[in-house]
Amino acid sequence: MLNIALPKGRLGEKVYAMFEKAGFECPSIKENNRKLIFENEDCGVRYFWAKPSDVAIYVARGAADIGVAGKDILLEYKPDIYELLDLKTGNCRMAVAAPRGFRDDPRRTLKVATKFSNIASTYYASLGREIDIIHLNGSIELAPILGLSDVIVDIVETGTTLKENNLEVFETIVPISARLIANKASFKFKSEPIEALVKSIAEQLQEG
Ligand code: PRP
Repeated sequence: MLNIALPKGRLGEKVYAMFEKAGFECPSIKENNRKLIFENEDCGVRYFWAKPSDVAIYVARGAADIGVAGKDILLEYKPDIYELLDLKTGNCRMAVAAPRGFRDDPRRTLKVATKFSNIASTYYASLGREIDIIHLNGSIELAPILGLSDVIVDIVETGTTLKENNLEVFETIVPISARLIANKASFKFKSEPIEALVKSIAEQLQEG
């Protein structure tokens, strides 16, 4: 049985379609209910819907053999997993954003609000810029508006959230997309189905 952790939500549904096309179908997953685990013994698969930011935890600890996680989570938490494939979906970017017209004064410590403290610290360390990290758990855009921080480091997808809150991208840190990841032991002991899946999805991506 191959245990697959999918990120709950639109990205997970899109990614499931790729797995289905690769021969790992599990029709019951499409039933609209609140169940979290779905199994198809014929194909030897068990899917489960996890909170997107938790997928890598299930995979790293072996509760899932493979899963789909955003590159943002992999960069932030550095889970001990194999990254197998860029799924070229869930595309967005990690960026520094600030109120319109913001100018950085290098003589002052920069106050940075973010959910991604490690990514932000690494980025500013690479620039040699002294910062004060304010770790928040969501609605990061509030911080510079209320004077809690100078800038934010956050995910920007369409840019709508920034625009509607009078913020703009100041610098892009790194592009982000969804990645297929594997537990290290599973990759060794369940190599056959995992390799078949990777091959099929890579072909699907090439076909566009
Ligand atoms: C994310 C991110 C931004 C928003 C960006 O928030 O933190 O707030 O999406 O998307 P956009 O550029 O398309 O507007 P999420 O929905 O994950 O909620 P959060 O506030 O809890 O981080």
